[in-house]
Amino acid sequence: MSSSSSSQQRLNQLTSHLTTMEGSSASIFQQVPKAAPDAIFHLTAQYKADTDPKKINVGVGAYRTDELKPYVLPVVKKADAILFNNKDLDHEYQPIAGTPSFTNAAVKLILGEDSVAIREHRAVGVQTISGTGANHTGAVFLSQYYKKSNHCYISNPTWANHRNIFSMAGFQVNTYPYWNDKTRGLDFEGMLQCMRDAPDGSVYILHACAHNPTGVDPTMEQWREIADVMQSKGHFPFFDCAYQGFASGDLDRDAAAVRYFVERGFELFVAQSFAKNFGLYGERTGNLTIVGKSPQVAQHILSQIEIAQRAEISNPPAYGARIVDIVLNDAALYAEWKENLKYMSNRIKEMRHALRSRLEELQTPGQWNHTTDQIGMFSFTGLKAPQVKVLKEKYHIYMTDNGRVSMAGLSTTNVDYFARAVDDVVRNVSV
Ligand code: LMR
Repeated sequence: MSSSSSSQQRLNQLTSHLTTMEGSSASIFQQVPKAAPDAIFHLTAQYKADTDPKKINVGVGAYRTDELKPYVLPVVKKADAILFNNKDLDHEYQPIAGTPSFTNAAVKLILGEDSVAIREHRAVGVQTISGTGANHTGAVFLSQYYKKSNHCYISNPTWANHRNIFSMAGFQVNTYPYWNDKTRGLDFEGMLQCMRDAPDGSVYILHACAHNPTGVDPTMEQWREIADVMQSKGHFPFFDCAYQGFASGDLDRDAAAVRYFVERGFELFVAQSFAKNFGLYGERTGNLTIVGKSPQVAQHILSQIEIAQRAEISNPPAYGARIVDIVLNDAALYAEWKENLKYMSNRIKEMRHALRSRLEELQTPGQWNHTTDQIGMFSFTGLKAPQVKVLKEKYHIYMTDNGRVSMAGLSTTNVDYFARAVDDVVRNVSV
């Protein structure tokens, strides 16, 4: 062999070796793009990493005391003690759909004791991984068994997770107008017109109370008109109820829209979260309430959801559901829970008034009545992304880019600073 042909051979071997190396070192997931971090939870991480003592987190919707500490509801502490002292307690699996004493109590809570759907045995519940899981479980069921339309409508703006949940379940996700930036209130006509124009039988995601992110709810009169249009178009109402009792301090008032739709004869789903109203954020405690036309329909839906639940989580987690179960099924604890709810919602209302009065004293350009007109955890301020950016960079105030403020992040000690910062960006940051 000549020296040139042997060096050619060695080169070929090396090339082939390198190709093999490359082949084995290249990931089969090479094409996976990096996703953007979650808008809400990334803010919390940024806030935690910020060392400025003046920092404020009005990003995530999680209740804080006036000392800006997480709040364990006193009634939850009592239920916790009952659990702790229960010598018979074990850690066996829960039923696939959750423990009936929990799901029945959750259904009763949202529909009301005297609900016609409960009397007629056509309302059932399934325990879910908080409100997100309830949305997901309902969406997955609908994507398989709801044949009228593949279109679903979420509000604009909305809680960002709605889009992901329903599109991942296979829905074509559209938006309906909700916020009127000029009036800083509900775009009621836009919402109704969209409902009229939507394909018949579309699935509509409606916020039962304390709309996230705007804090703007339809009046009862407006809910009646919404129900009229939805009925005439055969749309399916899917309520998301994350704030029952937390929004107004009144459990019945916050459930009024759902109950009205049930009275009108709709079949519907309600996603319930016990994160905010029980402070059980990390325990992921929720329920999907299903109202069907007949007991048989409701039971059949439940049976199919049990199959899906078994495949996804097998059995729901026990701890949070046990707490809620204890409280909802004990008259004295239930009464105490209502007081805890009033305490939390009152602090939020006080912060709304404090912020509005500070902004009015500063004569911050614009109208600020929406701050107190809105309800629940969030205020949609009308601040725009460039202003939000300056609030973060200059003032260490963390809120979502759409100008949503979690009122629970404000306190008697930081509301002045917050108002002055808002005043500065409203005056000086062009949008
Ligand atoms: C929020 O909107 O901030 C909360 O509901 C937390 C979440 O899950 O997005």
